[in-house]
Amino acid sequence: MAVPTATIEPGQASAATRPAVAAVAYHRGDFVPLAEAALPLTTQALQYGTGVFEGIRANLSADGDSLLLFRVHDHFERFVRSCRLLRIDPGHTVDELVDITCELLRRNGSATDTYLRPLGYKLGLLPGSRPGVGLTGVSDAVSITAFAMGAYMPAAGIRCGVSSWVRPRGAAVPMRAKVTGGYVNNALAMDEARAAGYDDAILLNDRGHVAEASTANVFAVAAGRLITPPPTADLLPGITRDTVSVLAADLGIEAGERDFALPDLLAADEVFLTGTGVGLTPVVEICGRPIGSGHPGPVTRDLADLYARTIRGGAPAPHDHWLTPVRIDRG
Ligand SMILES: Cc1ncc(COP(=O)(O)O)c(C=O)c1O
Repeated sequence: MAVPTATIEPGQASAATRPAVAAVAYHRGDFVPLAEAALPLTTQALQYGTGVFEGIRANLSADGDSLLLFRVHDHFERFVRSCRLLRIDPGHTVDELVDITCELLRRNGSATDTYLRPLGYKLGLLPGSRPGVGLTGVSDAVSITAFAMGAYMPAAGIRCGVSSWVRPRGAAVPMRAKVTGGYVNNALAMDEARAAGYDDAILLNDRGHVAEASTANVFAVAAGRLITPPPTADLLPGITRDTVSVLAADLGIEAGERDFALPDLLAADEVFLTGTGVGLTPVVEICGRPIGSGHPGPVTRDLADLYARTIRGGAPAPHDHWLTPVRIDRG
């Protein structure tokens, strides 16, 4: 069976790619109808941002028979590490979380590209605990929701602004974990970018170096070589970022990490973003300046093509260990 592909023109989100929330959620130990997966208004994570999350994709396989969870173990390992930082007991091992996610896809009868959103959070004060902000004396919970969601960034590339909101230092808010409260910085940056007519924001850290985009890592191509900022630049070291570095090696493209400033990005031959949500998205303009030719360059195109085939199990390279298949029951 052919894989349906959505063509999106620059700046257009197609109706087919608009997220549709799946009917069943995993919520605090049970699979329940989404409408029943409610939380009290007193939820601590809502009050103080003390939650952690992940974004995971399950992509329709090239043969159309399965959904392929992409690097789901890596995502849940990061989730468990994020939980540990906030003293959240996820109540499950990584393998159990993977099994729960596969079961969630099956229960929803998911048969199209799906985005999964695990959330671990501080819930309510335990008896005898003092009220107020803190991480102990509070109960923990985990929920997972699923959305039908295809590509939502235009393959022809996006336009970015540079945020006036600075990426906080990792010593202030842990940037290597996906902590819900920390995302207020990303939301402010994205809000500013959209208000100015851009598709996304590039954030600098407090040393003036490029950190990342609102929910994606940044790569520049200079003289055929890939560079991306190191984790010490106050960014989330993305799983897609790692994937692209491996795929670059497969293609014989040299890749490295180093700090760089905005002028280096503006002068790059090519720039692209990587993330579970955005996939590999070319950046064709930053602050009104075209990047390179103003169109996706050859390195970006080659990597985007290999990435697109890899996540659907259609690439020749041996990265099948990244894929966890869930067979589609077409009943
Ligand atoms: C701030 C931030 N940086 C980078 C990424 C890319 O990470 P990944 O490739 O693991 O999805 C994300 C998305 O999760 C993000 O939210």
